[in-house]
Amino acid sequence: MTSWQPGGVLLGADYNPEQWPEATLAEDVALMQQAGFTFATVGVFSWALWEPTPGDYKFERLQSILDTLHEAGIMVDLATGTASAPPWLARLYPDAMPVTREGLQLSHGSRQTWCPSNPDFGERSLALVKELATRFGDHPAVRMWHVGNEFGCHNLMCFCGISADDFRGWLKDRYTTLDALNHAWGTTFWSQRYADWADVIPPRTTTAIPNPGAELDWRRFCSDASLRQYLAERDLLRSITPDIPITTNFMVGHAFDGLDYHQWAPHQDVISNDHYLGSHLDQPEIELALSADIIRGLAGGNPWVLMEHSTSAVNWQPVNLAKAPGQMLRDSLSHVARGADTVAFFQWRASRSGAEKYHSALVPHAGKDSCVWHEVCELGEVLGKISEVEGSRTQSRVALVHNWDSLWTTDGDSTPSEHHRYMTEVNRWYAACWRAGLSVQGVAPGDSLDGFDVILAPGLHVVTDAEIANITKAVESGAHAVITYFSGTVDELDHVRLGGYPGGFAELLGVHFDEFAPLLPGQTAALRSTSERVQLAGNASGSIWTERGRADDGTEVLADYADGPSQGSPAMTRRTVGNGSAWYVSTSPDDASIDSLIAALSDDSGVSPTVPGLPEGVDAVRRVGEQASYLFVLNHTDQEVAVPVVGHDLITGTESTDGSSLLLLAGGVAVLREGSTS
Ligand code: GLA
Repeated sequence: MTSWQPGGVLLGADYNPEQWPEATLAEDVALMQQAGFTFATVGVFSWALWEPTPGDYKFERLQSILDTLHEAGIMVDLATGTASAPPWLARLYPDAMPVTREGLQLSHGSRQTWCPSNPDFGERSLALVKELATRFGDHPAVRMWHVGNEFGCHNLMCFCGISADDFRGWLKDRYTTLDALNHAWGTTFWSQRYADWADVIPPRTTTAIPNPGAELDWRRFCSDASLRQYLAERDLLRSITPDIPITTNFMVGHAFDGLDYHQWAPHQDVISNDHYLGSHLDQPEIELALSADIIRGLAGGNPWVLMEHSTSAVNWQPVNLAKAPGQMLRDSLSHVARGADTVAFFQWRASRSGAEKYHSALVPHAGKDSCVWHEVCELGEVLGKISEVEGSRTQSRVALVHNWDSLWTTDGDSTPSEHHRYMTEVNRWYAACWRAGLSVQGVAPGDSLDGFDVILAPGLHVVTDAEIANITKAVESGAHAVITYFSGTVDELDHVRLGGYPGGFAELLGVHFDEFAPLLPGQTAALRSTSERVQLAGNASGSIWTERGRADDGTEVLADYADGPSQGSPAMTRRTVGNGSAWYVSTSPDDASIDSLIAALSDDSGVSPTVPGLPEGVDAVRRVGEQASYLFVLNHTDQEVAVPVVGHDLITGTESTDGSSLLLLAGGVAVLREGSTS
């Protein structure tokens, strides 16, 4: 497979020129060159233009777009266009329209309105992909295939009869016999036992709590059904254009939880992600960093593509916040610091009409005479100046173990507390590492943990015996693991492990809890330090959850509950295991208490911040290349800060030396070459 990367850190965007008169293309290209723009994703939503009536393909416009971009030296990530079918598909194949959980069949009129299990959709979409790959696979502009777009974004689940058949087939593959399915779903309870496969249906709206085993398998099936469409397109592309790398854009972030990307990642030639800031978040820069660190994990630590983010506001949140001056550059470099070698956006030019006309773009409605355009040009210039970071790798000694099964079950029905939300807890532990200046990488529970000295597993609820053994082995070999409440409780069937909580991790942790005792909203349980190892404040507390139980002999109790429903039970424990240690936290501690625990863990493990002594709100991340290492320093505060770092700032060309400090303006950024790594 040929490398698609021409070198350097690329600036790009979704490019949808069909919205504009043809003459705009020349103007666009001139602007792209002015901004240093070299990467265009073309055709994401162009199916209705490419095939206006069934079987009648019209690619003249695409041809001229590709020719023009190529002449201008802009490479194309060509979309297969299958994300959104033309209106005629609904007329010809009404069954392809998705059905909601309540049984309402949706109509076309928006986008991504198709049932992932529908064979007619499958056939028509593959016919388009074949045409496209045959006609444009050897076009010199086409350097990457972009299959669909954000799979599962709007059509993750379809509850129609075809999907029900497909689900049954998937279940037969998984369980072979009805007995095995009945066992897995615990159907003996509530008179749910199936005696005929025909009675097995997707979890449509029902009277009371739906079967949790069915729900979990349904989530897995939905991820797999979309994956099958991706694979069908990928395989077809590969058979026609074996040398062109293939990707589809993931959506790791606060806005989407639908696909199990651990299953998807191995099928990508290039890992790419879309990330948008949440206006509801207090510190969206931390959630951005988490998303990027998870994506780098999915990429096996290698560089990846930021396929979409926004120059300023989006159009789909309750209130769409405009970015502050300088924020777009800082956000972009935060992704680059964590491994992105391409910084792309939705979309090049802001639409005049249609659903996303108030979404920001590189060329806003105001045109060139705008702050956004000036910032885009500045970003292009900065990416040019830091081009040598391309290919270097972000280093992390902290592994954040997470999985989608835990997300789906924890946030599902009938758990001990609906206030325990999986990603909220993951975010809180990640945020403590961010505040402590520790670099983190996301991993799946079964991934190799070699090279990680600290392992964080917040609320890792669904975990297999083999995955528990993987984490245990890493601890025995010297890693230091923090595991928090509700982890290890169930196996992959969502069956509770008997003998006390936290189930499969109880032995490693040396604890035994016999009851969950969650807290009401606003209620807290006071935490009392019982060891010098973790320094808790006098007002330390836990919220959401507590547990009743004890530590085994040989397990140190670091803090217990001074009041509340679990008074006297351990809240934080630590057990020495071989050269490593295993820590348990049976509540959701306040931020300061998590910070104290992370500090103690750093002492234990020797894992230190990327830059010690950073001012609060300043983020520093290192990428290490073959020739040099690069330190990204990002000031997220509204104050000028002095940062104790040494190196040559690729952006300003200035040197920071020992004894001096780097001065960063409010919201400012620096990328320092730190010197030779050879
Ligand atoms: C997603 C889609 C884009 C666009 C953006 C808007 O990421 O892929 O087509 O709709 O959202 O933020």
